[in-house]
Amino acid sequence: MLEINKEDTPSDFETLIEQGLSRRSLLKGMGTSALGLFFAAHPLSKAIASANSALLGFRAVPASTADNFVVPQGYVAKPLISWGDPILPGAPQFDPSGEQNSAAQARQFGDNNDGMSLFPLSETRALLAVNNEYINKEYLYPHKGEAITADDVLKAQYAHGVSIVEIRKRRNGHWQVEQSSTFNRRINVATPMQITGPAAGHPLLRTRSDDSGRSALGTVGNCANGMTPWGTYLTCEENFQYYFAASSPVELNAMQRRYGLVEEDEGSHWFLHDERFDLSKHPNETNRFGWVVEVDPQNPADVPRKRTALGRMAHENAELVINSDGHVVVYMGDDARGEHIYKFVSQDRYNPGNQRDNRNLLENGTLYVARFHAEPGELHGTGEWIELSHGKNGLGVDSGFADQAAVLIYVRAAATVVGGTTMDRPEWIAVHPDNHSVFCTLTNNRHRGVRENQPVDGPNPRAENHYGQIVRWQPEDGNHNSDQFVWDLFVIAGNPMVHPDTLYAGSANVNADNMFNCPDGIGFDADGRLWIQTDGEFTNDGDFLGMGNNQMLCADTNSGEIRRFATGPKGCELTGLAFTPDKRTMFVGVQHPGSEGTISHFPSGGNSKPRSTVMMIQREDGGVIGT
Ligand code: FEO
Ligand code: CA
Ligand code: CA
Ligand code: CA
Repeated sequence: MLEINKEDTPSDFETLIEQGLSRRSLLKGMGTSALGLFFAAHPLSKAIASANSALLGFRAVPASTADNFVVPQGYVAKPLISWGDPILPGAPQFDPSGEQNSAAQARQFGDNNDGMSLFPLSETRALLAVNNEYINKEYLYPHKGEAITADDVLKAQYAHGVSIVEIRKRRNGHWQVEQSSTFNRRINVATPMQITGPAAGHPLLRTRSDDSGRSALGTVGNCANGMTPWGTYLTCEENFQYYFAASSPVELNAMQRRYGLVEEDEGSHWFLHDERFDLSKHPNETNRFGWVVEVDPQNPADVPRKRTALGRMAHENAELVINSDGHVVVYMGDDARGEHIYKFVSQDRYNPGNQRDNRNLLENGTLYVARFHAEPGELHGTGEWIELSHGKNGLGVDSGFADQAAVLIYVRAAATVVGGTTMDRPEWIAVHPDNHSVFCTLTNNRHRGVRENQPVDGPNPRAENHYGQIVRWQPEDGNHNSDQFVWDLFVIAGNPMVHPDTLYAGSANVNADNMFNCPDGIGFDADGRLWIQTDGEFTNDGDFLGMGNNQMLCADTNSGEIRRFATGPKGCELTGLAFTPDKRTMFVGVQHPGSEGTISHFPSGGNSKPRSTVMMIQREDGGVIGT
């Protein structure tokens, strides 16, 4: 029954689905523990282990617990820019003592670089827009966060946001930051921004300092990103709730709680010195975060725009495609346990002949949430997109939504009303360059199978899921505007060394040489290689034995083969990726080395302080990355 010969190795999405159908009889009646047997014993594991993908041309690197950044033989990786490097006029050099004040940080590269996009200016010049997600108090301050002053709060706020830097290719082929470029810019928690789209001006977005509900200050929790074909950068606000606390007792309503807000200070201390973050004084300020923000990196004076049409959530990234009908489609994950996957479809069409026309395509459109279907125990199925529009699908005054603005501001609650599928923490989404399949990392979820609204089912097949998986779907007829799709799981992470016979061994394309946990950042290169970055447990112990530090892998999504390409230093996650158009330089982010009590001296070595860093990866022979 299990005989699938090598020719059955899926060569495209259709055959995978077909194969899935043939598995149906096999899986019928099996409980979840039997499913594990199915993964481990699947003959594909042999086929994949011996596969030699034409797409993947590098030698895999082993798992690592070393405090360095390792790339395959024949490759070199060098730091491009690190937290605290000067990028604006008058900026001081990085001072490892932590004594530098907010004014210094405001002119330096921000902390915890995450998603990034590259905007070419010429063959030898480009702009790199990089998110700065958060800070590590133990490294930002000499007092490690024990005695936060008003200037310390400002310093943290200036370390968040976005850094835009010009980079130039030198004669030796290496790219370097151009410190004196007039394109260089810092966007932070104090940068004036516009709130635009259907929710702009809504009473829920008005505050004492902005009674228009249209002009916000700053961006925070800038996790992953997106870029548009009209040359703008999308920075996505994720864990904004962390920065708020109440100085006097407040009764948080159900909507505020759904967005993770709590009265207590969770450690930022911002509300002590910046009233804007005091929930008891400015409750609506929280509603002005959790958006996708569009910024033009080529215009240092551009006022960033919060695009409310894309909904308010813990945004991970914003993966944008131009659909065959010209509509702009943006796929988005809401990274919290049991939250959802969304799709935005623009009202107007993309005009390739006039980029100015496209500048407001994200202003209006229709938002959808994904609902996945599967027969019990099956790891593939169908799905549908459910519209999140006021007056449809039960979204109205009776269900708590006064208007479309309320639907967008509280889109999590709207997704529940219409029956969106609760997911295992959706992180990044990436569309294959052939435009026909979409991948989303589901990083982990300890609530799966524990909370009533998060049953073990379909694309979330494991209780207390601590390894994660990547779901893949294909829109009907390759049309991203269709409300129908089919899905399967591209990979289920696991540890076949620790769990040889259970569901937690992982799918057939996971083995002792490539195992990993908690996939997070993903992106395709122009040739269709899927790059997978992890943000998981780096204990290298117990369930995670043999996995080592966080890592970056590369997958051939046709053959299913996954090969480890890089390993990061101690305590870091790898996140953020960008390529030069010639495909010969790749930029990868090392975020929070030395976190959670680990000892790291990355990237400078010796006894130095660890610093989040963007790495530049090239081949020694100047060849195309990954081949
Ligand atoms: Fe900022 Fe969901 O990672
Ligand atoms: Ca992430
Ligand atoms: Ca993560
Ligand atoms: Ca992170």
